[in-house]
Amino acid sequence: MKFIITAGPTREHIDPVRFLSNPSTGKMGFAVAAEAARRGHETVLVAGPVNLRTPSGVRRIDVVSARDMLAAVKNEVIDGAVFVGVAAVADFRPKVSFDKKQKKSVMTGELKLVRNPDILKSLKSVPITRVGFAAETNDVLAEASRKCREKNLKFIVANDVLAKGSGFGVSTNRVTFVYPDGSLKKFPLMSKRRVAERILDEIDRA
Ligand code: C5P
Repeated sequence: MKFIITAGPTREHIDPVRFLSNPSTGKMGFAVAAEAARRGHETVLVAGPVNLRTPSGVRRIDVVSARDMLAAVKNEVIDGAVFVGVAAVADFRPKVSFDKKQKKSVMTGELKLVRNPDILKSLKSVPITRVGFAAETNDVLAEASRKCREKNLKFIVANDVLAKGSGFGVSTNRVTFVYPDGSLKKFPLMSKRRVAERILDEIDRA
C-alpha cells in the first residue's frame, strides 16, 4: 500500500525572519513513517521544519507552510492510499507576508490572520483511508470524536498534550483511538515507536 504521512509543525512566515508556528518536533509522524516503511509499504513523509533523520526506506518531502504541505500531499495521493495526518498544521497564517524583513519602526503591532486549508478535510471525499491525530488540552475524547466524524476518518489518535510524558517533543505518548461511532481503545503510556506499531496494526487489520 502507499502511505502518505504528514509530520512536524508548519511555519507561517510574516517576513523572512519571523513566523507563527507550534512546538511539534515531528517525532510521532516520523515514527509512523518508519513503521510503515518497515512493514514494506511505499512510504512518503511530508515534513515541516524539524531536526530528525529520515527513517530508512522513506521518501521525504520537506515543506514549510500549510499551503506547501497541502500541495505536496495532493501531489502524492492516489486512490487506495492511506493518509495519516500527524502534522500540527498551523490553523492560521498572516494575511500579508513580506519578502524582506520588516523594520519594527514600520510595524503596527497588529497582525491580520486568515485560515489555512485543512489538509485532512480537503481529502474527505477521496477514496483513501484517512487517519488523524487530535492534540487537545481539554475535553480530549469529545473533541476527538467530533473531529473523527467531521473529517470522515477511519479513526483518530487522541492525546492530551498537557499530560505528563504525552504530546509535543517527548519520546512517549499516552493515546486513545477514537472511532466514528464513539467507541474507544485506550492505551497506557508507550514509546512513540510502540504507538506507531499500534496505529499500523489498526490500519492493517482492515
Ligand atoms: O487541528 P486539528 O485538531 O483539527 O487537527 C486534527 C487533524 O487534522 C490532525 O490529523 C491534523 O494533522 C489534521 N489537520 C490538517 N490540516 C489542518 C489542520 C489539521 O490536516 N489545517
